[in-house]
Amino acid sequence: MIRLTALFPLACAITAFVLSMLCLFAGSKKGFMEEYHIVTLNTSTLGYNVLKPSTTSTASASQPTSLTSWITGEIQNITSIIEGDLTTIENDIANKLARELGIQEWYSLHMMDMCEGSYAPNATSKGAGFNTTECSNRTAMYHFNPTATINHELEVGGLNINISDIGWSNTIQGGINDLNAALDATFVLYCIGIGASGLAILTAPVSIFLESKLITFANLAIAFLAFLCLAIDSIIITVLEHQMVNDINKDGNKIGLYAYKGGKFLALTWSATALMLLASCTWVVEFWLRWRQVRREYTEKPLVGRTSQDTFDARGYPKM
Ligand SMILES: *[C@@H]1O[C@H](CO)[C@@H](O)[C@H](O)[C@H]1NC(C)=O
Ligand SMILES: *[C@@H]1O[C@H](CO)[C@@H](O)[C@H](O)[C@H]1NC(C)=O
Ligand SMILES: *[C@@H]1O[C@H](CO)[C@@H](O)[C@H](O)[C@H]1NC(C)=O
Ligand SMILES: *[C@@H]1O[C@H](CO)[C@@H](O)[C@H](O)[C@H]1NC(C)=O
Ligand SMILES: *[C@@H]1O[C@H](CO)[C@@H](O)[C@H](O)[C@H]1NC(C)=O
Ligand SMILES: *[C@@H]1O[C@H](CO)[C@@H](O)[C@H](O)[C@H]1NC(C)=O
Repeated sequence: MIRLTALFPLACAITAFVLSMLCLFAGSKKGFMEEYHIVTLNTSTLGYNVLKPSTTSTASASQPTSLTSWITGEIQNITSIIEGDLTTIENDIANKLARELGIQEWYSLHMMDMCEGSYAPNATSKGAGFNTTECSNRTAMYHFNPTATINHELEVGGLNINISDIGWSNTIQGGINDLNAALDATFVLYCIGIGASGLAILTAPVSIFLESKLITFANLAIAFLAFLCLAIDSIIITVLEHQMVNDINKDGNKIGLYAYKGGKFLALTWSATALMLLASCTWVVEFWLRWRQVRREYTEKPLVGRTSQDTFDARGYPKM
C-alpha cells in the first residue's frame, strides 16, 4: 500500500534543507542575498562626534586637524547655500563622511564572511538598498572583525587617522568578540542540521512504499535531530544578535556608529526550524498510529481457533 502521508514531511525536509543552506550561504558572494545578514553596521556617520568636540574631551584631544578642517569647510560650504537648515547639513555629512574617511557606509556579518559597501541611492534615503563593494573570502567558522578592516581603511584613507582617534571603544569590539565564539558553534550545528534534513529527504520516500515501524522511527529521529540543531542555532543567533546590537549601540551611537539586527536572516532560520518541527510532529503521529496497529495485531494472536470477527468488533475492541 502506498501511503501518501509521508509526502508532507518530505516536502518539509526539502524546504528546510534549502532554507538552512541559504542561512549558511547568504552573502557568501558579492551581492548574493546581501539583505539576509546577521548584523549590519551603519558607518555612514562614523566620526560624526568630532563635529561636537565639547562632548568627548578624549576624542577632541586626539582629533586630527585634517578631519576637523574638512568638516568645518563642509559646513561652511553648505550653510552658504542653505542657511541654517541643520537636517540638510546632517544628511549631507552622512552621505559624504564615509567616503571622505576612506571607509564604507555599511559592514555586514554573514555566516561565512563579511561584506561592505554603500547605501543606494544614498545613506539617508528611506529603505535604502545595499550596494556591495567587496566581501571577504568565504571561510568556515568565520570570525567577524570589522574593527581591523575599518582601521586599515582609515589608515590608507587620505586623512591619516586611525580607529582610536574616532573613539572606537573596547566595548564595541567586546560585543563583537562575544558573538564570534558562538558563531563557531552555530556553524557546526547548521552543518549537522543541513546533513540531517538532507538525509530526511532520502529516508522519507522509503516510508511511502514500506510500512515499517522501524523506518517510521528512523524518520522521526532524523527529523527531530535536524529540528534540534536548527532550533538551537536560531535561539543562539536571536539572543546574541540582540546582545551584540545593544553592546555596539551603547557606545557606538556616540561616535555615529549604528548596528541593526538582521530580521530577514531570523525569518529564514526560524522558518527552517518550524518546518522540521512540523515534519517531526507528522512522524510522531505516524509512529503512534503504527504502534497502535501493531499492538492490535498482537492482542489478536493468542485467539487460535476463533476468527477475530467473533470476539472483536470492526475497531478491534472485544465484543460485549
Ligand atoms: C567647498 O566648495 C568649494 C567650491 O565650491 C570646493 O572647492 C571645496 O572643495 C569645498 N569644500 C569642501 C570641504 O567640500
Ligand atoms: C554602487 O557602488 C559603485 C561604486 O562603489 C557605484 O559606481 C555605483 O553607481 C553604485 N550603484 C548604485 C546603484 O548606487
Ligand atoms: C545610517 O545612519 C544614519 C545616522 O543615524 C541615518 O541617518 C541613516 O538613515 C542610516 N541609514 C540607513 C540606510 O539605515
Ligand atoms: C538621497 O536620495 C533621496 C531619494 O532618492 C533624495 O530625495 C535625496 O535628495 C538624496 N539625498 C542626498 C543628500 O543626496
Ligand atoms: C582571498 O583569496 C584570494 C585567492 O584565493 C587570495 O589571493 C587572497 O589573499 C585572499 N584574501 C584574504 C584576505 O585572505
Ligand atoms: C592610533 O594613533 C595613535 C597616534 O596617532 C596611537 O597612539 C595609537 O596607538 C593608534 N592606535 C591604533 C589602534 O593603531
